[in-house]
Amino acid sequence: MANLHPVPAEFAARARIDKAGYEKLYAESVSDPEGFWGRIGKRLDWIKPYTRVKDVSFDISDLHIRWYEDGVLNVSANCLDRHLATRGEKTAIIWEGDDPDDSRHISYRELHAEVCRAANLLTHLGIGKGDRVAIYLPMIPEAAVAMLACTRIGAVHTIVFGGFSPDSLASRIADSQCKLVITADEGVRGGKRVALKANVDAALERPNTNSVETVLVVRRTGGAVDMQVPRDRWWHALMEGQSEQHDPVPCEAEHPLFILYTSGSTGAPKGVLHTTGGYLVHASYTHECVFDLREDDVYWCTADVGWVTGHSYLVYGPLANGATTVMFEGVPNYPDSSRFWQVVDKHKVTIFYTAPTAIRALMREGEDPVTRTSRASIRLLGSVGEPINPEAWEWYYRVVGESRCPIVDTWWQTETGGILITPLPGATDLKPGSASLPFFGIKPAIVDANGNLLDGATEGNLILTDSWPGQMRTVYGDHQRFIDTYFRTYPGNYFTGDGVRRDEDGYYWITGRVDDVINVSGHRLGTAEVESALVAHVSVAEAAVVGCAHDIKGQGIYAYVTLKVGVEQSEALRKELIAWVRKEIGPIATPDYLQWAPGLPKTRSGKIMRRILRKIAENAPDQLGDTSTLADPSVVRNLVDERMIRG
Ligand code: WT7
Repeated sequence: MANLHPVPAEFAARARIDKAGYEKLYAESVSDPEGFWGRIGKRLDWIKPYTRVKDVSFDISDLHIRWYEDGVLNVSANCLDRHLATRGEKTAIIWEGDDPDDSRHISYRELHAEVCRAANLLTHLGIGKGDRVAIYLPMIPEAAVAMLACTRIGAVHTIVFGGFSPDSLASRIADSQCKLVITADEGVRGGKRVALKANVDAALERPNTNSVETVLVVRRTGGAVDMQVPRDRWWHALMEGQSEQHDPVPCEAEHPLFILYTSGSTGAPKGVLHTTGGYLVHASYTHECVFDLREDDVYWCTADVGWVTGHSYLVYGPLANGATTVMFEGVPNYPDSSRFWQVVDKHKVTIFYTAPTAIRALMREGEDPVTRTSRASIRLLGSVGEPINPEAWEWYYRVVGESRCPIVDTWWQTETGGILITPLPGATDLKPGSASLPFFGIKPAIVDANGNLLDGATEGNLILTDSWPGQMRTVYGDHQRFIDTYFRTYPGNYFTGDGVRRDEDGYYWITGRVDDVINVSGHRLGTAEVESALVAHVSVAEAAVVGCAHDIKGQGIYAYVTLKVGVEQSEALRKELIAWVRKEIGPIATPDYLQWAPGLPKTRSGKIMRRILRKIAENAPDQLGDTSTLADPSVVRNLVDERMIRG
């Protein structure tokens, strides 16, 4: 029986949504979504108000998802201009540098001025409504400025996490045909420099990247870079002459807002496309409700803007709500593992949102780095990215939050745009490890492998039976893939790819991915991507990759590699292959284990049996299950023996 943490008295007393309120509003939101979301949509400033709220069909023969369709708005005007009258001098962004002595406060008025200048600059460079712009920046204020400037002119940004390799950057640029890349000379994380501009140079050597006309370079470190004239231009030099006046470009509610690439079970990462109106309604409304946002909060989400969490809950949600949002350039353990809590004390952070992998890593360092800080300002904690194990939850609750702060464990995905299953701090009793109950308007259901709906306390695959405003609209350039990936498995429903259990109180417990996606430190990787990086090496004939349990990362990467005939197995080659994957995709894809596989377990039709490979990786050879369809059983015996030797 899970340890129940009831809503704290202080939260119950001032709750905007209490337990009864949640039940009432939830019932209304699912019985009358038009009425509910029609009302919530008014939280934004619309240039032209919508009259139609929802036009959705999950039927695969006529799939379409449209929200607030005839409304017109501008995202940057909602995040900036409308706050100027009442919050002009309020801090919009607190930037905390990698170096603890480096920080800056940027007011709404200052941010507005910067974004206007940047919008004028983008226009000057020939970027217009609908054009794609790649952003490959470290966690510096210019990242938010660049995002908002794109939205101001209706350009579509695609942010590529600064930890991705030139190849990963190139494939995203090629797929979305960007005209502009915004980068920095170098990034700085944990005292180390990352050669961003050099990575862009390498990426633009790759095929199909000719769409790029300009590379704008922000000076972060002053490190040496090659400027290729006339392609490469300095951000600061061009920003200087720009006006601080700019009229936001009106955008239809369904105008594309951004593309964000994410891994799936097969093939290259997909360009998840989000649109303007519904996304911002959902991001801002969830941000306010889930984090119980108040005017004087200092809110800190530790995610990088390269991930969807950074989009929705570092930039768009908080700024649309006029909040003060902290942007942190560094890492949790630099200069030491007290850093998060030092930053909390320095800026009097009240709401803190991070990932279970960070909690587990810090937990390993013991309580002292936490308890030697005050953290008195914190009142609410959040978790996102992967299931949080109850031990990590309890440590986060007891040590970081001193048993006074609720934890909102928020389940969602890149595809969902915002939070879908979550506690509300004034309404939901918490069970460590459970994301708890659906947010307003969200209709989760559980099905078995054959698509039969399962009632009551049960376990199976998680689907969503109706739409919500923040839902992705398509896979950029490949609508068929959108339909096939999310709507074909359980026709008429959105399939999340996650397994889930529902308990007797109706609480949801996400059990993890049920497809070939691995969740490494809260970041998604497709096994197919790592495999194709491995087989791109001259020595590799074949590779199979599975996820395996990892104490800190949640899941690690376990690779089985078959070498080409005549290539010798060696420790040196093993290291070389691991480094190769790291270079091909980026450090997050570095395999944790690489086992030589003279052969891979396959069915007679040649399909790799990953289920078996997962069990071998777990070192559980007695749980291989049904092996009768194996083409060659000796292959498995070899792999098991080899695995046993390592222990
Ligand atoms: C996958 C989505 C949501 C933004 C960050 C990750 C897993 C996410 C939770 C949670 C259990 C979670 C799921 C999901 N996941 N949050 N609170 N509890 N699992 O976005 O990279 O699109 O990954 O992350 O497996 O499908 P993403």
